[in-house]
Amino acid sequence: MSKAHFGLIGLGVMGENLVLNAERNGFSSVVYNRTFAKTETFLNGPGIGKSIRGAKNLQEFVDKLERPRRILMMVKAGAATDAVIEQISPFLQEGDLLIDGGNSAFKDTERRVAQLESKSFGYIGMGVSGGAKGALEGPSMMPGGTKASYDAIESMLTKMAAQVEDGPCVTYIGPGGSGHFVKTVHNGIEYGIEQILAEAYDLMKRVCGMNGDQIADIMGYWNSTEELSSYLVEITEACLRTKDSTDGINVVEKIMDKAGQKGTGLWTVVSALELGASVPTIYASLNGRVMSSMKTQRLKAESILKGPPVKTLDLGSFDDGMAPLMDAVVLSTISSYAQGMELLRKASNEYNYKLNMPSIAQIWKGGCIIRSRLLSRIQDAYRLDSKLTNLLIDPWFAEQVNRRLPGLAKVVAGAAEVGMPVPCFSSSLDYINSYRTGRLPQNLVQAMRDCFGSHTYERIDMDGVFHTDWIK
Ligand code: 6PG
Repeated sequence: MSKAHFGLIGLGVMGENLVLNAERNGFSSVVYNRTFAKTETFLNGPGIGKSIRGAKNLQEFVDKLERPRRILMMVKAGAATDAVIEQISPFLQEGDLLIDGGNSAFKDTERRVAQLESKSFGYIGMGVSGGAKGALEGPSMMPGGTKASYDAIESMLTKMAAQVEDGPCVTYIGPGGSGHFVKTVHNGIEYGIEQILAEAYDLMKRVCGMNGDQIADIMGYWNSTEELSSYLVEITEACLRTKDSTDGINVVEKIMDKAGQKGTGLWTVVSALELGASVPTIYASLNGRVMSSMKTQRLKAESILKGPPVKTLDLGSFDDGMAPLMDAVVLSTISSYAQGMELLRKASNEYNYKLNMPSIAQIWKGGCIIRSRLLSRIQDAYRLDSKLTNLLIDPWFAEQVNRRLPGLAKVVAGAAEVGMPVPCFSSSLDYINSYRTGRLPQNLVQAMRDCFGSHTYERIDMDGVFHTDWIK
């Protein structure tokens, strides 16, 4: 029997769909799962009649693969990934390539690339985005590692990836853990946009008294605009329209208001703090999830801490697409992207990833969770100025900010007046206001630091480092 082109370890939903995608694109495959029963279920189910075979153990798995072997691991990030690497390493030979397609922490990938590339076989850390459907129909993929390793799988990945008007949604990201770093930041932006849409929903529901279908109608309208047309707005509309078949009540209203997380949003924020990148919108979305998980405490506090009464606010009407609220959503979404891109730029300099910003925007245009029409504008912005420090000052984005800032301010002020939490809207407003302020009050912070700790300061009227004897 001829040897297979491609091997997959880990038959979770992403693994299953990626191997079906590879097979559909002409790559005969072998699959291995820790429990063989799962392999059998897959082969007799979705894998039936396809050029996909199973293997009971890793020896059989590698024997069934043509050389050089191309093996994709879709296993849980962390210890499980290390365990699979350890088990399969003895079977791999010169030229073989092991790809980690899970949501690994980029520092783990840095370590693994360094360790494994010295062992003669190649190692790629690849972010894969798009959920189950994307994996099957065409995901966005962010592979990092050596260029030689990437070259060995490029033709396969370009066939498997989502396709947009200017090419497949995959590109060589850079060395080491850069692929997983870019995926991590993708997820940070994803957290931001999810929270932004949740805040808009909350205001429409609790302040404007709109029902699920009415809010869904607004999402549908927003999804038709250049600024907000995106996968996340599209699925928000779908979620809000879904009714429980037993009683016709919106399913969203029956969901416990506690958001989980698997780590990537946290890693984005930790990296930003380490690199000195400002990501308040993304941080606010992470904190929103943390706060949401404190359900018992919040319920108790609700009866003790009284906010102002919730009254009606002018957030626009259906006819104007909730104009001020749309301003808030657009600018907060832009802030989330701007902060993510800024973090990528800083990481690229710090870790020498040499990230190609227009290419990253391009591969996020299709297949992935944060795909949106805005990404074409982001791509243009970095094409226009490859050294762009912040998306906000690109002419197209600056026009959006200048036009929509009053709307965002109105929404944040109104929310504060009625005691509604809008962490992403308010942190985006502060982010934009801080960024557009040439002189911030940190001169006073510097004075205090120098006063109590002789930390010294610089002056705006002369060069040098100064200390003042503040308390005579
Ligand atoms: C994607 C997603 C996916 C991620 C989930 C869950 O790009 O397909 O980012 O990889 O794992 O969205 O993330 P949280 O559980 O942390 O929300």
